[in-house]
Parts: sequence; C-alpha cells; structure tokens
Amino acid sequence: MSERDGKFAGDDPFAIARAWLSEAEASEVNDPNAMALATVNETGLPNVRMVLLKDITDDAFWFYTNYGSAKGREIEASGKAAVVLHWKSLRRQIRVRGAVTREDGPEADEYYASRSLKSRLGAWASRQSEPLSSRAHLMAEVAKVTAAKGPNPDRPPFWGGFKIAPVEIEFWADGAFRLHDRFVWRRESDADSWNVERLNP
Ligand SMILES: Cc1cc2nc3c(=O)[nH]c(=O)nc-3n(C[C@H](O)[C@H](O)[C@H](O)COP(=O)(O)O)c2cc1C
Repeated sequence: MSERDGKFAGDDPFAIARAWLSEAEASEVNDPNAMALATVNETGLPNVRMVLLKDITDDAFWFYTNYGSAKGREIEASGKAAVVLHWKSLRRQIRVRGAVTREDGPEADEYYASRSLKSRLGAWASRQSEPLSSRAHLMAEVAKVTAAKGPNPDRPPFWGGFKIAPVEIEFWADGAFRLHDRFVWRRESDADSWNVERLNP
C-alpha cells in the first residue's frame, strides 16, 4: 500500500473525501458540494440529477430532498443510489455507491431549521417533480404556505434527508497523458472492512 500516498493517503475513505471536499471549497467557483445523483426506476432506466452533499459522517454521505420527487420515489423503491462529485479546478472525482436510507429525524429537523425562511417555505410550496401549470401558480402556493405556516414552519413530512452508506468509494485524480490515478475502497456491506485496490485508468 506504500504507493498510495499524497492525496490518497490514509485508510479511512470518509476522511479522504472530507479532505478533498475541503480543498475543493477553496478552489471551485461555486457549489463545491454539488454531486450528480444516479437512481434507476422500476424498469431499470437510469436517471441522474445534481444535489448538494450536506454532510460526510463516519459512515455516510448525506443530502436533502423531497421524498415525493422522482428521485425520492426511485430511491425508496430500489433502496440504492450512486453519486459522483467532480471538481474541474482539482481535476478529481469521487464516486460513491450504496444503500440509501431516509433520515427524517432530528438531523433533518436541524438542517431544515438552518435554511432561510424562504427556502423552508419553498420546500412546503413545491410538489417537486410534479407538473406545474405556471410560475404564477407556484408563487401563489408560496403565498399560501407563508400565510398558513408563519415565521417558524415545521419541516414538511415529505422533505428530509437521505444517507448513502457506501459499499464502494472511488477516488480519481488526473494524471499526465491520461494515466490517471484511481483507488477504490470496496466492501460487501457496511458491517465489513474495506478492501482497497488501485485500478487501471
Ligand atoms: C447545483 C445544483 C444543486 C441542487 N441541489 C439539490 C438538492 O440538494 N436537493 C434537491 O432536491 N434538488 C437539488 N437540485 C435540483 C435537482 O437537480 C433536480 O432538478 C430536482 O431535485 C428534481 O429532481 P427529480 O425530479 O429527479 O427528483 C440541484 C440542482 C443543481 C443544478
């Protein structure tokens, strides 16, 4: 394992991911925590969209969304997802795959409460992924929930966190002549220990 050093050093992939994200926070023009989230529908048709990574804890990658959205429904049906973070400024990517669980307890309440009032009301007003007749209709919904919910809206029951418990985390860094460096951490389940391998670029 001695050749895995520098930006790939260490045994804990969550710590490496946090270190790369904090480097990206210093170098990206915006949204260093933006990641593409891939899901599949019931026919196996893939779907992908950006979401914001909100936390990397000791065992999971966290993001927040509307549970009734297309992604929310696909995740709850399959129980699985993959994400990729790509930083142009660093020429690096991190890929994560694993089982996903809903997190709608105190952490979701706390994160919801930390958002601006307009964002909190927007979460109530938007039936994410459903057809919308006009922008004016959405603004009317915002006005309705603003009047109904007041200055301290509770977290909508249909909005909260998802956490991905990875069985695979891959770190990729650009190398000269397309000879990139790739290291993958894999395990059968999150109860197992990691196996680390270098991959061909
Ligand atoms: C940079 C960026 C960050 C985004 N972050 C989120 C997010 O954290 N949560 C979310 O629900 N949607 C986020 N969106 C919007 C999603 O990409 C998507 O349009 C929306 O969630 C509906 O997706 P779905 O219909 O596949 O469920 C973000 C979009 C961009 C471009």
